Amino acid sequence: MSKKFYITTPIYYVNARPHIGHAYTTIACDTIARRHRMLGDDTWFLTGTDEHGQKIERAAQAAGKTPQQFTDEVSAQFRALWDRMGLSYDDFIRTTSERHKQGVQALWRKIRDNGYIYKGTYSGQYCVFDELYVDAVGPGAPCPLCERPTETVHEENYYFKLSAFQEQLIRLYTEQPDFIRPETRRNEVLSFVRGGLRDLSISRSTFSWGIPVPDDPKHVVYVWLDALANYITALGYGSADASKFNKYWPADVHMIGKEIVRFHCVYWPAFLLAAGLPLPKGITAHGWLLFEESKMSKSRGNIVRAETIVDVLGTDALRYFLLREVVFGQDGSFSFDALVQRYNSDLANGLGNLASRTLTMITRYFKGEVPYPSHAAHTAADQAIEDAAKKAVADFGTLFDEYQFSRALEIAWGLVSAVDKYIVENEPWALDEKKDEESRARLATVLYTSAEALRIVTALAHPVMPTATAKIWVQMGLGDIKTFDLTQLQWGQLHLGTKLGEVQAVFPRADKSAVERMQKMEEQKIGGTASVGTDASPVPPSEARPPAAPKASAAIPDGKISIDDFAKVELRVAQVKTAERVKGADKLLRLEVDLGTEVRQLVAGIAEAYEPETLIGRKVVIVANLAPRKLRGLESNGMIVAASPEGGKPVLASFLEDVPLGTRLK
Ligand code: ME8
Ligand code: MG
Repeated sequence: MSKKFYITTPIYYVNARPHIGHAYTTIACDTIARRHRMLGDDTWFLTGTDEHGQKIERAAQAAGKTPQQFTDEVSAQFRALWDRMGLSYDDFIRTTSERHKQGVQALWRKIRDNGYIYKGTYSGQYCVFDELYVDAVGPGAPCPLCERPTETVHEENYYFKLSAFQEQLIRLYTEQPDFIRPETRRNEVLSFVRGGLRDLSISRSTFSWGIPVPDDPKHVVYVWLDALANYITALGYGSADASKFNKYWPADVHMIGKEIVRFHCVYWPAFLLAAGLPLPKGITAHGWLLFEESKMSKSRGNIVRAETIVDVLGTDALRYFLLREVVFGQDGSFSFDALVQRYNSDLANGLGNLASRTLTMITRYFKGEVPYPSHAAHTAADQAIEDAAKKAVADFGTLFDEYQFSRALEIAWGLVSAVDKYIVENEPWALDEKKDEESRARLATVLYTSAEALRIVTALAHPVMPTATAKIWVQMGLGDIKTFDLTQLQWGQLHLGTKLGEVQAVFPRADKSAVERMQKMEEQKIGGTASVGTDASPVPPSEARPPAAPKASAAIPDGKISIDDFAKVELRVAQVKTAERVKGADKLLRLEVDLGTEVRQLVAGIAEAYEPETLIGRKVVIVANLAPRKLRGLESNGMIVAASPEGGKPVLASFLEDVPLGTRLK
């Protein structure tokens, strides 16, 4: 039976244009929503924009526009970008829309009528950047969260009896440990609430860019109460038609970044409890995308736009990278180098290569029709792939449902590597040359097995990379992947005789110029042409870092190199998998080393210092981006790093601590 599934992103402030931090949350939600749709769940995916409050009002002023004009423009930019990226939201809520206003006012009335709102006077500090009343003393005192100077407010406001909910909230977090994920965030919230809750000011009267308080329009509703309500107003809460609200509420998950946990895990459930409404089933907070070592943010100006990556490598590449590279829940760094490297190793050389080699061989050897695996020709190697594929289906699902995207993808890509190895070992090209019946049966089995594993990885990866997987599906002759029922994904469903479509590369290899192109596009953007709106929140001069401008080339003394020169050398940790002497060369060893993402052949002049077998399993440092060269007819892809004493034997660089494969030295 199909279940309903309701997922939301935060609604983004429109004080500046979107960057890949916003794209990150939206992509994660899109991926989850797509998987649920493939599983047959009745899925509703909501996103939108947060457009009221002092911060937005000031940003509009700074841009010389009315707030309405300004928010219309920036909200449209968010939406246009999500559309261009093919994000499959079902609804886009704007807090300036009439339906939202009605819903917020209905929620206010409900909370008020239940006795949780009273009038009082607020005297204290307000942080416009965080749109938060803070505990700070004196004019200009720094905000405890962002350290920007706060503003003193002295006004008559409406208050929400937050203090009345302390015990209920503690019980909620304790009895429902999954309510806040991951656990670190839950513990933070728990200790915050245990520290005591004070009533919350929920109206403002010193500016007007907001939703009027019912029956007292001198006040506008506090922007966080306004914003949080979007999760129900978008479903028609407070309108004449409650059908969507009845169907989808409570939300299955509110996905957010870790900086807005308090609003979602304390204030929001308290507002809902006060209104007598059901609580969301869970709130999941992910970490921050860092760029140049700090949180990517509009106010810091160290942002990367999604458009740049989408233009150069495509949306699927960005989606895969963010979900594979960043451990969901933790902070992760973004860099163009890492993006291109992942793209090449996992997509161009990984899934893309598996698809094109498998489908090309079926086209060539079997006239483009899926051959039938022969039972007589079935070997342990075929069985191992079948078993690995079945396990991948199960493990991928479990990890994905826990939002462990990087591990889920690691599992699926483990299958890609296993099939690659299987193809190399079973040499279908050699089987094709022998024209006997037995070889022919073996060839059919090897290609069927490879294609079936490819089909399974493609189906699993579809929610993560909708475009490329849809293309592979068509090339496999399987039609529209959107109609595929993921609950039916099983080994052996690829039918004999399925006619393949035209085979084309889905992930063309990216060269070094891709990185430069993306960096250029970002530098041009920072030049100011495309940016819309400014962050007009008060930032002390010491914090007002300039945008990441292209580095000035300071004079470099003779004989020295710049840090950029050093950064060109890609030193990485690798593990020796095989080592053997090179015939006719006393000094050379042929090594195969594992970089975590790929295995490479190197030829190294260390044969006089090390016996080959002692090197196996050893972790070494290699120069990973050295141009390939040939030594004794063998291609060497990189160089192993060793101390080379004058007249003595080379000594390999190594580590005392254990270091993961592929780690970069810098
Ligand atoms: O907080 N890394 O809006 P906002 C990861 N309007 N995620 C990031 C990110 C980064 N560097 N930068 C932004 C608001 N995000 C409120 C929300 S909800 C009722 C109101 C993502 O424009 C992440 O999801 O500051 C974060 O929580 C959200 O954008 C904040 O967007
Ligand atoms: Mg923010």
